[in-house]
Amino acid sequence: MAGTPQSVESIEAEARAALAAADDLPALVEARARFLGRKGSLSAILRTLGSLEPQARVTLGEAVNGARDRIEALAAERRISLEARRVEADLARGRLDVTLPGAPSLRGRLHPVTRAERDIEAFFSTLGFSVEEGPEVELERYNFDALEIPADHPARDAHDTFYVRPGVVLRTHTSPVQIRTMSGRQPPLRFIAPGRVYRHDASPRHSPMFSQVEGFLVDEGASFADLKGVLYAFARHVMGSDVKLRFRASFFPFTEPSAELDFSCVLCEQRGCATCSRTGWIEWGGCGMIHPRVLENCGIDPERWQGFAFGMGMERAAMMRHNIPQIRLLYEPDVRFLEQV
Ligand code: PHE
Repeated sequence: MAGTPQSVESIEAEARAALAAADDLPALVEARARFLGRKGSLSAILRTLGSLEPQARVTLGEAVNGARDRIEALAAERRISLEARRVEADLARGRLDVTLPGAPSLRGRLHPVTRAERDIEAFFSTLGFSVEEGPEVELERYNFDALEIPADHPARDAHDTFYVRPGVVLRTHTSPVQIRTMSGRQPPLRFIAPGRVYRHDASPRHSPMFSQVEGFLVDEGASFADLKGVLYAFARHVMGSDVKLRFRASFFPFTEPSAELDFSCVLCEQRGCATCSRTGWIEWGGCGMIHPRVLENCGIDPERWQGFAFGMGMERAAMMRHNIPQIRLLYEPDVRFLEQV
């Protein structure tokens, strides 16, 4: 065929065969260029048009254009089917084996202190106590003054206070909830107020944030014996019927008389361990009969009503319940530990 240009029909037939034989996208691009590109065989024919008679030029030109359109359409069709094949191959390579066991998804659960709190709330509700809340960012007036702890009182030093701004503190105990709850209400009153409190003193047994549960009852004839009865029931519920309690005479400006309460170490059964500093006892919190002046500060007549109050550490209850030796374990984000609890 040297010298004689191929016929349009034979080019088209060759193109059809080449496109059909192209097995992947690069081969298709190459085949298309071979027939339709600037150096392709159809372009070669077009270059001969100039030497033809006008009538022959029109006929050949139309033939070339028709062939080009058909080859172009064929190449486009082929491209679509090759792309689809590639997608299918990719899917086949990465296909899922649906018979493999699934990856277990981790289930969240409540923090041990949250669980202790809910349990304590449920227990006190059986004794007729309702749950009250107060803010963690608290007025100095409620955290101290209304509890008879004025600015110059040495008892303030015992609370290493975080100040938010003058007159506003992170509450150092849950006792301000007593004031908030009693003001504007009249007895009989029976509440617990669990929540977080903040103190500056971080040490192995103390964390700058911990949780207390405040409890208080105001009624006619409420006595220290009632307070002890409630605390014994509480301790036994949380730590089991074998737990022993020890009341030590103490001082709080907002209770009189006052006591500090220890429970027998459940972890070592009082044989002595690091958690109880080998004493067999763990401090739990303070309690006492609500001071008459505190009742007055809340508009309650102390001649008629008496009240008791207590503030116990919730982490310590959770620690005994779950055999946790150190408070910091509760607040470090070690999920492996928390999952064991
Ligand atoms: N609020 C006191 C404290 O945290 C504890 C307490 C509460 C004492 C209620 C007496 C009555 O130190």
